Amino acid sequence: MSQRFSDKVVMVTGAGNGLARAAALGFAREGASLCIIDMDQAALDKTRQDAEAAGAKVLALNVNLGTREACHQAVADAVSHFGKLNVLCNIAGIVRMHHVTEVSIEDWNKLIAINMAAPFWLSQAAIPHLLESHGNIVNCTSQSSLKGCAYIVPYSMTKGAIVMMTKSMAMEYINAPIRINAVSPGTMGNTNMSTGMAFPENIDPNLFMRYGGIRPAAEPEDVASLFLYAASDDAKAVHGAILCADGGTTAD
Ligand SMILES: NC(=O)c1ccc[n+]([C@@H]2O[C@H](COP(=O)([O-])OP(=O)(O)OC[C@H]3O[C@@H](n4cnc5c(N)ncnc54)[C@H](O)[C@@H]3O)[C@@H](O)[C@H]2O)c1
Repeated sequence: MSQRFSDKVVMVTGAGNGLARAAALGFAREGASLCIIDMDQAALDKTRQDAEAAGAKVLALNVNLGTREACHQAVADAVSHFGKLNVLCNIAGIVRMHHVTEVSIEDWNKLIAINMAAPFWLSQAAIPHLLESHGNIVNCTSQSSLKGCAYIVPYSMTKGAIVMMTKSMAMEYINAPIRINAVSPGTMGNTNMSTGMAFPENIDPNLFMRYGGIRPAAEPEDVASLFLYAASDDAKAVHGAILCADGGTTAD
């Protein structure tokens, strides 16, 4: 097993479940010290135990990333604990399915706060530390940022914003020692998001089936490997990129 993250401190949001858990355990196996964040305490404990069993030093923070203050505090806690930060992986996210006409203000605000604002506030707090460590950020977008997807319009809007956040931050720091990229998954199996989707009534299943693509859904580990690549020195030349792991859905 290569050890691309020995002596690196990696923060992973949403690490209790799904994709972020798979990424956190991948970083742990490759030598990273980890700050893992989630608001699901039981899931956070399980990831902490498994990462420690893989040899990682772990700071587990039970944080709701829904405010700027919480995001800034989480970065401050990680840096105060480990003394530095090398990688920020913004993976925590939520999905809600609706007809456009039925989107509530509560769901709208939550989607914006978790999927769009939190990665920005975490990046804002982390960038001074990442400039010091010559580190990097890897954001999580979605195939729905690159192709129109029915019944998840506000979700898709937040993921489209992550594409432009990634590219625009990459340009603002084009002359600085930091890399900023995003990974764009397609449908994954074995995540709470994919198994827990609540479908609205009266949807056209043909439109929904298009998200699934033609190939089978990926496992979270198969997408997590792209986060590890983007965060590692193997991706030295990769900056401002949207790396797709969607089994070809956006090629369609
Ligand atoms: N599952 C898919 O098919 C799929 C497809 C494309 C993109 N994605 C993206 O991948 C990322 C991970 O998705 P997943 O399927 O692994 O999800 P998941 O639901 O399995 O895990 C998400 C984790 O984020 C945590 N979280 C949610 N809100 C939070 C908050 N306010 N503060 C702290 N933690 C919070 C949850 O507790 C959970 O542990 C998301 O950004 C999602 O949009 C997922």
